[in-house]
Amino acid sequence: MKILKDAKLIGTGVQRYCYEDPDDKNRCIKVSINSTRANDLEEKYLKFLQKKNISWEHLTKLYAREDTDMGDGLVFDLVRDFDGEISKSIDYYMQNENEFLLINNFTKKLKDLKQYMFDNGVIVKDISQYNVLFQRVSKNNGKFMIIDGVGNSEAIPVSNYIRYFQKRRIKKYWDRFIRRIKRVKTSNTTYVRMIEEF
Ligand SMILES: Nc1ncnc2c1ncn2[C@@H]1O[C@H](COP(=O)(O)OP(=O)(O)O)[C@@H](O)[C@H]1O
Ligand SMILES: [Mg+2]
Repeated sequence: MKILKDAKLIGTGVQRYCYEDPDDKNRCIKVSINSTRANDLEEKYLKFLQKKNISWEHLTKLYAREDTDMGDGLVFDLVRDFDGEISKSIDYYMQNENEFLLINNFTKKLKDLKQYMFDNGVIVKDISQYNVLFQRVSKNNGKFMIIDGVGNSEAIPVSNYIRYFQKRRIKKYWDRFIRRIKRVKTSNTTYVRMIEEF
């Protein structure tokens, strides 16, 4: 059993705590605050994607399920920038004017992410500005990484198997994501100008 008592807490979401893996600084462990259902569903869907042998260019890889002193945990890649800092969310970059400039060509990067989801058939039912990080791969460049929210909420998951339904579903969640990021309140004028054009 993994002991997380002294591990570094990276973030708290709606359902889970995210800790740095005490044995590997490039991995994190997510433990459920209430029920383990979120972990069950996520594990099932990510294993399905693994079997399809998809690219992990924009999605954190799941390594294992592990029992911890804080409860049931899932071990993922911890997303870090080129300088070792833990990558920050899109929301963070939207709120910080100077740092926002680091995301040169924000629109292009959004398109890359969208293309990735369609090409690999990745369904992210809860895609939001909090569940996507901007990973700086060098001083002036980076890419978006999905860290949470993957899966499909259909009772019978036809979209996992039938391409036409899959595309429709990815588009539905994507459009919702764009509506969400357009609604973000910020005094960051660079962002406001950019998103108006999108
Ligand atoms: N792979 C990761 N790399 C870096 N930070 C992460 C990673 N996964 C989660 N986090 C941080 O932990 C927070 C909570 O994790 P998340 O998976 O979103 O939990 P929840 O399911 O409760 O929303 C995130 O908002 C983010 O700040
Ligand atoms: Mg989250």
